[in-house]
Amino acid sequence: MGIWWWWWWWWWWCSAPAAAAVDGWTIRLTSTLEELAGDDRRERAQSESSTWWWWWWWAVVVVVVAIGCDASVMIASRGNDAEKDSTDNLSLAGDGFDTVVRAKAAVEKKCPGVVSCADILAIAARDVVAMSSGPRWTVELGRLDGLVSKSGGVAGKLPGPDMRVKDLAAIFAKNNLTVLDMVALSGAHTVGFAHCTRFAGRLYGRVGGGVDPSYDPAYARQLMAACPRDVAPTIAVNMDPITPAAFDNAYYANLAGGLGLFTSDQELYTDAASRPAVTGFAKNQTLFFEAFKEAMVKLGRVGVKSGKHGEIRRDCTAFN
Ligand code: HEM
Repeated sequence: MGIWWWWWWWWWWCSAPAAAAVDGWTIRLTSTLEELAGDDRRERAQSESSTWWWWWWWAVVVVVVAIGCDASVMIASRGNDAEKDSTDNLSLAGDGFDTVVRAKAAVEKKCPGVVSCADILAIAARDVVAMSSGPRWTVELGRLDGLVSKSGGVAGKLPGPDMRVKDLAAIFAKNNLTVLDMVALSGAHTVGFAHCTRFAGRLYGRVGGGVDPSYDPAYARQLMAACPRDVAPTIAVNMDPITPAAFDNAYYANLAGGLGLFTSDQELYTDAASRPAVTGFAKNQTLFFEAFKEAMVKLGRVGVKSGKHGEIRRDCTAFN
């Protein structure tokens, strides 16, 4: 068959980054990646607690909302000054990093220097949603990995759990995301965990004392039992108390019932600017899924690096 066949083969399977926007290419590379890394992911999904896959989610949010979709959060530093060392990112689970590193190693074996860590993260985010009965979408590929990872770059760019809709919307707007996108994306809080320290202020830290009255009283009692005052920083609770493992629209009905874990969740129902979207998604899961898919594609375009502004890392935890 000769060298040209091999060249054609390599090009067919491995040159997708150059054609990121084209659906056919995207599907081909995605399925190759799934084939290569799928066994690894399946094995780990079966053998470990589910925390690693929720980590991927959080990483995606950190990566795209804070700095851009460039896997800079994966860089390890000797001086504890990389993006993953910032206070907001300290709760990212180590086994999640490890899983991405393993997926990357599997892909590198087959097509070295072709698939970026940022693309692997984006595909992983899509897959964990699909694996928990959520929607599935085509991931646009071709991102490069970033060349900068600084803990100081995170502050002020991430949405915070105590923020109100106006401030949250401003952060999302900076990244070309509307209030509707923001409400749809917040629906990701239908799965995963949150550390008690991230919402303890609503239970114990209010000026004048007392629990935040926007909590349903029974839910507040449940949270106080799980997260007593001065609880260890490692303790976490489900973010969706009703269907914690399913990617569904229960999150929105929860908000209407005062079961929003963070202020940033509950406020989506309280604020007139976002409430119609919340009630719409609570009534119609298909509507939520469609809006979520669209918003995830938009989120995946934030801060994409190309040309001299990026590279395809050989190892996700280090610059080349
Ligand atoms: C609206 C702004 C948002 C705020 C203020 C926010 C805040 C947070 C916080 C404080 C946590 C808990 C982290 C911890 O304790 O370890 C969390 C977890 C999580 N967030 Fe968000 N988030 C926002 C938007 C998003 C978006 C857009 C997504 C996905 C598209 C997302 C997906 C997740 C997931 C899956 C977790 C669980 C992580 C885990 O189980 O380790 N969040 N979020």
